[in-house]
Amino acid sequence: NWTMENFIDTEIARIRKLVGPTAEVIGAVSGGVDSTVGAKIMHEAIGTRFHAIYVDNGLMRLNETETVYKTLTEGLGINLTVVDATDLFLGRLKGVTDPEKKRKIIGNTFIHVFEDEAAKIKPASGQEIEYLLQGTLYPDVIESISFKGPSQTIKTHHNVGGLLENMKLKLIEPLRELFKDEVRDLGELMGVPHDLVWRHPFPGPGLGIRVLGEVNKEQLKIAREADAIFIEEIKAHGLYKEISQALAALLPVKSVGVMGDQRTYEQVIALRAVETVDFMTADWYVFEAKFLKKVASRIVNEVDGVARVTYDITSKPPATVEWE
Ligand code: XMP
Repeated sequence: NWTMENFIDTEIARIRKLVGPTAEVIGAVSGGVDSTVGAKIMHEAIGTRFHAIYVDNGLMRLNETETVYKTLTEGLGINLTVVDATDLFLGRLKGVTDPEKKRKIIGNTFIHVFEDEAAKIKPASGQEIEYLLQGTLYPDVIESISFKGPSQTIKTHHNVGGLLENMKLKLIEPLRELFKDEVRDLGELMGVPHDLVWRHPFPGPGLGIRVLGEVNKEQLKIAREADAIFIEEIKAHGLYKEISQALAALLPVKSVGVMGDQRTYEQVIALRAVETVDFMTADWYVFEAKFLKKVASRIVNEVDGVARVTYDITSKPPATVEWE
């Protein structure tokens, strides 16, 4: 009979057999549930012959890199390298405002950084790296077989297909038979922290597509602080699990405000929170007015550079979840 416990044992045995006694495996981790659970299962199967790489692209949320590092190394014992590539990413994004161009730059830069880092890993065994871990889930398998629609542009970012070709790596996909909720069960069972297991999805291009228009350190700081306040309040009000995804987008517009007896002229934050089953369609989440009032007041008071907060009440379709 199929149980998650049996799945873990079978999958670990399958990985060990596939990889053999000496081969080495690399994989990218993002701080999300799929890559973390994938990394954890690889670590259980082959220990330090699995090398996880986390690329800090400078587009992450508040304290993200530190938290991922602590959770994966101290918490889960995974062999992890963190690469700080902030300057490279931001340098390449300079002056770029088109969302699809931003996505392409971020995706391609990720591949370059990952490959460079992978090339630096010299396993003690003297073996070359042979396999690449990928956190493919069952719905991705189905979709790539049966559907080549408009969502391809989105998918191009998550999949690291370029890595396979350039590095001649073989693919290893421990989650390819599982649905998302099963990956979460598996994570809980394997000791991945609860908060990480139940995290909202976060796009690969990160805050790069939540800072609308040109991305730079100053704009990222504003988006990051607003996002942290919004999520903190959602959690404090016990709403995190009810909401499928929540985000703060920084709009490239200035608006007049007043602080004390000073007239201000600063930017606008758009809050968005949605409920959805599959992210193909989504409804905006109906907060109590009191909640929105509190978040808006905190953001304007605590985040320098914001004069106004709005709440997005558009469903998908016609609006997407992200603003870019
Ligand atoms: P949209 O905005 O298309 O978002 O309604 C649907 C879901 O996909 C995420 N998303 C992305 N994920 N790379 C990703 O890895 C991307 O370029 C990207 N764009 C959107 C979005 O956060 C939501 O969960």
